[in-house]
Amino acid sequence: MIMDVPVTSQPIDPLFATAPDRRGTGSEKWDRWTDRDVIPTWVADLDFRAPDVVLEAMRARVDHGVFGYTDPPPGFAPALCEHLARRHGWQVEPDQITSTPGVVNGLAITARLLAEPASGIITFTPVYPPFLSLPGLAGRECIRVPLAQSETAWTIDWDALEAAVTPTTKLFWLCHPHNPTGTVFGRDDLVGIAEFAARHGLTVVSDEIWSDLLLDDDHGGPRHVPFASLDHPKARDAITLVAPSKTWNLAGLGCAAAICRDRGILKQWRAAGGGLVPMVNPIGYAAAEAAWRFGDDWRRRLVSVLRHHRDLAVAAVAGIPGLTCVPPQATYLVWIDCRGTGVADAEAACVAAGIGPSDGKHFAAPGFIRLNTGCPTPLFVEILRRLALAFAA
Ligand SMILES: Cc1ncc(COP(=O)(O)O)c(C=O)c1O
Repeated sequence: MIMDVPVTSQPIDPLFATAPDRRGTGSEKWDRWTDRDVIPTWVADLDFRAPDVVLEAMRARVDHGVFGYTDPPPGFAPALCEHLARRHGWQVEPDQITSTPGVVNGLAITARLLAEPASGIITFTPVYPPFLSLPGLAGRECIRVPLAQSETAWTIDWDALEAAVTPTTKLFWLCHPHNPTGTVFGRDDLVGIAEFAARHGLTVVSDEIWSDLLLDDDHGGPRHVPFASLDHPKARDAITLVAPSKTWNLAGLGCAAAICRDRGILKQWRAAGGGLVPMVNPIGYAAAEAAWRFGDDWRRRLVSVLRHHRDLAVAAVAGIPGLTCVPPQATYLVWIDCRGTGVADAEAACVAAGIGPSDGKHFAAPGFIRLNTGCPTPLFVEILRRLALAFAA
């Protein structure tokens, strides 16, 4: 059965009604299938233009005209502190923040800084692929602990966690909110993780890059609780990684931040990059600071569109025999279990039907696909129409 997807039940916000054509711009997402009618819905960036307040700040920095080696400008860390206090009620001091050109290299740095060679780094699966590959690249071991899947939620399997940890495990890499499932871990989960980390002498590194994209927090749904905001000893030596890149669509600008109450760790941060990690560029700083200071109105309007797209996707998946998904609470990703369709290669079936999702095998979950909902509504509706076609046979 090929289902009809309702075009939209909510008026389209003019800010997100259209998007620039990204083809031929070197876009990792859009320049993958240049010879075929395949709508890319894989890499996690948005198709929308960044907010005007951010573009203006970037233009002003360009007009300065000098782009030498740049430390965090004076407003960078205070802008992040104010944003974290306003959005998440989390008090952080500017000297507890350092910059880094990306959250992925931030994770890689923590492996080198906090886990000696051959020690273990524990993480939940499925997960964003660098969590799986970076430990090995750093000569450390990735210890995978599957989340438990039910019809309505992805939850922590505490027994599996206890069974997996080894005496040489040093780090816990938490993806919070969680990519790809869109799970928001609640306070009880986080305290459980802190207790577990304390029992086994682990440092928690919390990747909170998605924390400004909770889809229901304005409507009584779960709110983001920063791991390091807990009143727990393990929150005091935790490292939090954040960036404006997912929320305000700035991934190509390479600007992120690491937050840690232990200033000694931050002092060693750049050296731990081993000369391989560059300084953040001045335009990235200008964009990040403007996004954190002035971007909340745009963010709220974006979340409203993304919530609508999540609801469309969940309804579409429910109408396609063999597909299931747990409705994501955060992110612009929808994680779909295709194993019930009997289709051996779900990603290939999608590409044949004209959409290019992420293949679950890269997330340690073959048989799943991940859709990106971050595009104008009519295009997303067409993606869902093609999703139904992919599994129609
Ligand atoms: C959980 C998570 N962490 C990190 C990143 C990438 O961060 P960066 O581009 O700052 O390295 C992504 C991108 O999708 C992500 O989903």
